[in-house]
Amino acid sequence: MIEDRLGQRIVSGAAAEEDLRMDANVRPQRLSEYIGQKRVKENIAIAIEAARSRGDALDHVLLYGPPGLGKTTLAQIIANELNVTIKTSAGPLLERKGDLTAILTSLESKEVFFLDEIHRLQPAVEEVLYPAMEDFRVDLIIGQGPGARIHPFPLSRFTLIGATTRAGLITAPLRSRFGIVHRLEFYDPEDLLIIIHRSAKILNIAMDEGGAEEIAKRCRGTPRIANRLLRRARDFAEVRAAGRITRAVAQESLAMLGVDENGLDEVDRNLMLALIEKYGGGPVGVGTLAAALSEEEDAIEEMYEPYLMQIGLIDRTPRGRVATARAYEYFGKELPKRQTRLF
Ligand SMILES: Nc1ncnc2c1ncn2[C@@H]1O[C@H](COP(=O)(O)OP(=O)(O)OP(=O)(O)O)[C@@H](O)[C@H]1O
Ligand SMILES: [Mg+2]
Repeated sequence: MIEDRLGQRIVSGAAAEEDLRMDANVRPQRLSEYIGQKRVKENIAIAIEAARSRGDALDHVLLYGPPGLGKTTLAQIIANELNVTIKTSAGPLLERKGDLTAILTSLESKEVFFLDEIHRLQPAVEEVLYPAMEDFRVDLIIGQGPGARIHPFPLSRFTLIGATTRAGLITAPLRSRFGIVHRLEFYDPEDLLIIIHRSAKILNIAMDEGGAEEIAKRCRGTPRIANRLLRRARDFAEVRAAGRITRAVAQESLAMLGVDENGLDEVDRNLMLALIEKYGGGPVGVGTLAAALSEEEDAIEEMYEPYLMQIGLIDRTPRGRVATARAYEYFGKELPKRQTRLF
């Protein structure tokens, strides 16, 4: 539901239907094409090489970070680099233990099982994962009632790759069973430029450096948004500007979509202004903010906040969210006296 609503938002990190269609063309397939995330890439490359030379399955991998930063892409790449097939599912799709057991028992040796939104597994279903990850075993229950018996069933040595936008919601027993855990970070402007140029080339879009720079500034450090803004700027260029994305074309087209020079849109502005004007800059609980904006609490924590925190407009404190001094400056508001002491 959240995804549906936010999919409409031009600077949402969530995948919209059009993104998914375009993904096939621009999504990197090999580690060498995966831009940025240097530390993650280096670590994964070593783990892959070691697993290959031992002839064993790669250790289980947990990837977390805000939407659109490349978790699914990296999972696919890991399978490609290991030269194995990948089976995919997602937390909310596995309603019963049997759904997960059926997948696990079908896995072949060294195969990758990608489990998206792993934080949304039902507790009972999640428990099936524990022995599967640790001992490559599922416990089948044969019979019913007092006569029921547990029958251990061996699995192939597989690699689980879990992905989540909400690492905080992963239980400790699940997390402890991953040997390789990486957080994906927002991308640097230099990496975003490379991604934007690469996508433009694949999609045959004429663009100059200024155009690429404007898109890089506005895409919230997120490749999925970069690719989406690129397509919108192309539409504008084709209709209004002889097909070439220049700096002016990028500026004009993205301003028309209500995206400011740091990638903030209407929802971000409403959120920040509510925090500043309605709640005196905070601290205010995320639930209160969500209610004031008629947004889902989850959406605020998952989609808006991480970037607003990254660019230093919002801070998370134990007592709630606060607007920073920088936020007051950004929105041309006067900092209240009490706030000056905080920062
Ligand atoms: N490192 C990268 N280099 C180049 N392009 C990338 C990179 N990471 C992601 N992308 C692009 O961004 C798009 C979105 O990435 P992806 O679907 O992997 O994100 P995600 O983290 O799985 O998001 P979600 O949390 O919504 O599932 C990809 O289709 C790909 O085109
Ligand atoms: Mg994904």
